[in-house]
Amino acid sequence: MFILSIETSCDETAAAVIQSEAAGLSLLTNIVSSQIKLHAAWGGVVPNLAAREHLKNILPVIEEALNAAGVTKGAIDLIAVTHGPGLIPALLIGVGAAKTLSYLWDVPLIGIHHIEGHIYANFLHEIKSEEVEFPALCLVVSGGHTQLVLMKKHLNYEVVGETQDDAAGEAFDKVARILGLGYPGGPAIAAAAANYKLQMTNDKQSASQQTKFKISKEILTTRHQLLNTTLPRPMINSKNLNFSFSGLKTAVLYLVKKNKLLLKNEKFVAEVAAEFQQAACDVLITKTISAAKKYDAKTVMLAGGVSANRELRKQLGAAIEKELPNVSYMMPAIEYTGDNAAMIGAAAHFRWRNISEKDRQKFKNNWKNLETDANLKLNA
Ligand code: KG4
Ligand code: ZN
Repeated sequence: MFILSIETSCDETAAAVIQSEAAGLSLLTNIVSSQIKLHAAWGGVVPNLAAREHLKNILPVIEEALNAAGVTKGAIDLIAVTHGPGLIPALLIGVGAAKTLSYLWDVPLIGIHHIEGHIYANFLHEIKSEEVEFPALCLVVSGGHTQLVLMKKHLNYEVVGETQDDAAGEAFDKVARILGLGYPGGPAIAAAAANYKLQMTNDKQSASQQTKFKISKEILTTRHQLLNTTLPRPMINSKNLNFSFSGLKTAVLYLVKKNKLLLKNEKFVAEVAAEFQQAACDVLITKTISAAKKYDAKTVMLAGGVSANRELRKQLGAAIEKELPNVSYMMPAIEYTGDNAAMIGAAAHFRWRNISEKDRQKFKNNWKNLETDANLKLNA
């Protein structure tokens, strides 16, 4: 069967076509129209602007997905759409389009939780990984969520830890703004931090070739600023599995306020970016390992926009190898870490095969019933 999936919960208008069979799923097309440039001017996503763009793009994106997949409208067996959580004006466009098509084409409609989609992005690139071992512990890190989710089986979720304030992605975005690195902040921080690492390696090499006195004064000053200043790792030693990122962001803000002139210094900015990224990774990884141990997880998964972060991917992998050598580690392919519709289709593939033939009939009426919910709970 063919599934058309739609995602418009934030600033990406996305549609995908998935072929879903008993043996597994295969992704035929994944079209994403990003609004990042539009929102960058505002330093963040403006809900009504996002809705306007979704309205402009939604049908062309769906048409493109169908054409690229070589699948006609008549061949679609199921429509899947993100119905929460997210920005209501944005969600309404995707859900409105999905309901209309479900009614016109007379095909069932299923609502998917956005975070469930992010988790199921793990099942897009390796069909074999459908045989994942449970319990699985999933670190969900996006612009709106930071959660540790325990899955005892497919489609079963228990949130065992979450952020008490900002989400990890939100912290990356806010710190990037403080450092003047632009929007979206995650990739900008990661790039600055990678530059810093490179710089340090080069400096070390050239320092070893020169006498001590030849190292530029600027480098010494810049290093000095941070060598004496480690950013906090909030809640890293707390007994629970929750997170807090707003204090970390505020620590960066104070550091920068004290050193305003240094904001003009690329090396200083890169150094703060690297230290912030490391602080965030340290907390995320420590809590994930604790949770995996506590719940005897057989698998650890990464999910959400921040899972594109290469340091997080690498360092979490290394921590698992060291501390939990018998646990498997899954992460979505980089291209499916951000918002997309392929992940919504993947979640729909798993949901649909779990629904009995009789119950499937009800989904034909979902064009009347499906609602959007900005705060939709996982497992609701
Ligand atoms: O999942 P996502 O695309 O949208 C939401 O559901 O929120 O996540 C977006 C978040 C943004 O905060 C963005 O800055 C962050 O993911 N992000 C990253 C990276 N790429 C995107 N954070 C850290 N490192 C990255 N490479
Ligand atoms: Zn997302």
